[in-house]
Parts: sequence; C-alpha cells; structure tokens
Amino acid sequence: MVAPSIFSLVGVVSLAACALGKPISWRNGFDKRHAKALPAPISFNNYGGKSSLANFDNFNGVSNFDGSQSQQIFVEQSEQVVCTQIDVEIIQQKLVVIREMVKRILIEQICEVEVQTVVLEQFSSSIDSFGQDIRHHSSRQIGYDSNIAALSSHLYNSDGSQSNHNLGFSGSQVGNHSVSVGGSNWNNSTSPASVGAIYQASKSAKADAQSKNGTSSSSSSSSSSTLLSTSTLSSSSSKSSSTSSSAAKSSSTSSSSAAATITAKAY
Ligand SMILES: *[C@@H]1O[C@H](CO)[C@@H](O)[C@H](O)[C@H]1NC(C)=O
Ligand SMILES: *[C@@H]1O[C@H](CO)[C@@H](O)[C@H](O)[C@H]1NC(C)=O
Ligand SMILES: *[C@@H]1O[C@H](CO)[C@@H](O)[C@H](O)[C@H]1NC(C)=O
Ligand SMILES: *[C@@H]1O[C@H](CO)[C@@H](O)[C@H](O)[C@H]1NC(C)=O
Repeated sequence: MVAPSIFSLVGVVSLAACALGKPISWRNGFDKRHAKALPAPISFNNYGGKSSLANFDNFNGVSNFDGSQSQQIFVEQSEQVVCTQIDVEIIQQKLVVIREMVKRILIEQICEVEVQTVVLEQFSSSIDSFGQDIRHHSSRQIGYDSNIAALSSHLYNSDGSQSNHNLGFSGSQVGNHSVSVGGSNWNNSTSPASVGAIYQASKSAKADAQSKNGTSSSSSSSSSSTLLSTSTLSSSSSKSSSTSSSAAKSSSTSSSSAAATITAKAY
C-alpha cells in the first residue's frame, strides 16, 4: 500500500522537476536535496493571550492542524456510490456557495482578526491536504465523512440566520465514518503525469492571478469601496426588513450586478 505510492510519488517528482527545472518540496521529506528540519509542533491554545483560543488544539490535536492525522475508518456500504460527472460550471457554483458560507461564518461569528486568520488557515490547509489525497500524494485514502457532511442542514436556523449550537463532534473524530466513491479515472501508470501536469498549470494560473492584485491599486480601491457601500446597504436593508424577502432579493440583485460590473472592469 505505502510502497507503490512512494514509487509513483518519486516518479512525479523527477518528471515535474525535469519539466520545470524547479524543486518541489514534500512534507514527508522524500526530496532529500531540499529536506529541512521537521517543523516543531505549535500550540494555539491561548495563543497571544487570547482566551477565545483556550481550547483551539483540543479539536484536532496538536500536530494535527490540518486534520490529516485523524484516523480514517471506512464504513461498509451495501452498495458503493459511483461518481457521475456533471457540468463543471455547476461544480464551480456549488463550491463558491460553500466559500461564501465560509466567509459569512468567519466575519459574522468571529470578531478577532487573529482568530479569523488561524481558523481560515486551518480550513485551507485541510483542503490542501485533501488535494494531496486526490493526487495520490498522501498515504490517506480518498473519501469523505458521511456523518459530518450530513450536518450541513444544521448550519442555519429556519429564518436564514446562522446557527450557533454545538454540532457535537471533535475534529479528531472526522473520518470516523468515511465512505469511498467509485468510478474515478485514476490510472496508476498514466495519472501521475497527467494529474501532475494540470496541477502545475493550476499553480501557474494561481500565481498569475495573484500577481495581478497590486497592479492597478487606484481602480481596485475604487471598486472595493463601491462593493463596501453596496454591502452596507444590503445588510442594513435586510436588518430593517428581515421578513421581507423581496427587499433582500432586490438588494442582493443589485449587489451581484455591482460585482459583475467590477469583474468586467477588472478584465
Ligand atoms: C494502483 O496503486 C495502488 C497503490 O498506490 C494500488 O493499491 C492499486 O491496486 C493499484 N491499482 C491498479 C489497478 O494496479
Ligand atoms: C469516533 O471514533 C472514536 C474513537 O474510535 C469514538 O470514540 C467515537 O465514538 C467515534 N465517533 C463517531 C461519531 O463515530
Ligand atoms: C492505464 O493506462 C495504460 C496506458 O494507457 C493502459 O494500458 C491500462 O490499461 C490502463 N489501466 C487501467 C486499469 O485502465
Ligand atoms: C499580491 O500577491 C502577492 C503574491 O503574488 C502577495 O505577496 C502580496 O501580498 C499580494 N498583495 C496584496 C495587496 O494582496
């Protein structure tokens, strides 16, 4: 189980290194030329004297910041689910909905920017860790915890506000009730190269997008202030008339058209 995945990993490293002439760092230290001392465990409990972080590490456990060390237990399925490919635009829409939900949680339910920062980094590192799984760069199996995923309906109250009750689990238990999905096109001989190539292209696209962030600071600051006033308007209108869904709808329409204008400007 472990040996073949190390084998394919080394194959990808040398292939990508040849193609790009760039070192690739591996958390597990397979690339000896660039091996660094193992990072020391960091505890965030009471970090910076913040009592809001008193129990931060108790969730996943120290040295398990991204949850990647939590145990996976796969449950037996009477019938294995098999993937069905749908339009990528629909996938992009669904993931953006989740992303905006993440933003809402962070800014409505956390006031300390330090806490917003560490929690968001924890979240994004757990997503990075899943990326390693799907690229077969980890020793973990690919699956999701179906008990946890089923809790999505508990995130909102019936009036659309965010719930704030304890969902009754700890981070270290996530993976306890894992299920796998069949039907992926992974091929041990061809996928390390094809997946490695599109991963590198994605990284380049990310770097390209990030390099654009500071190029037109005057126009970007004017568009962000447009957004700010629109969103201030929509949050105050939804507060003053929380029962009127049409008011909320019209303000969200105007904010999305403002966002569309800004996007068009940026391009
Ligand atoms: C592919 O490799 C994995 C280990 O990396 C192994 O478990 C699996 O059986 C292999 N699949 C095939 C079809 O050879
Ligand atoms: C998860 O696993 C732990 C340890 O095996 C167990 O104590 C706990 O009850 C499990 N939780 C769920 C929700 O299955
Ligand atoms: C993997 O790809 C190779 C090369 O294209 C092919 O010969 C082989 O049949 C494929 N294996 C599977 C399990 O599809
Ligand atoms: C712009 O992106 C670069 C990374 O390419 C980052 O270092 C920098 O902090 C970013 N600046 C702003 C203002 O977001």
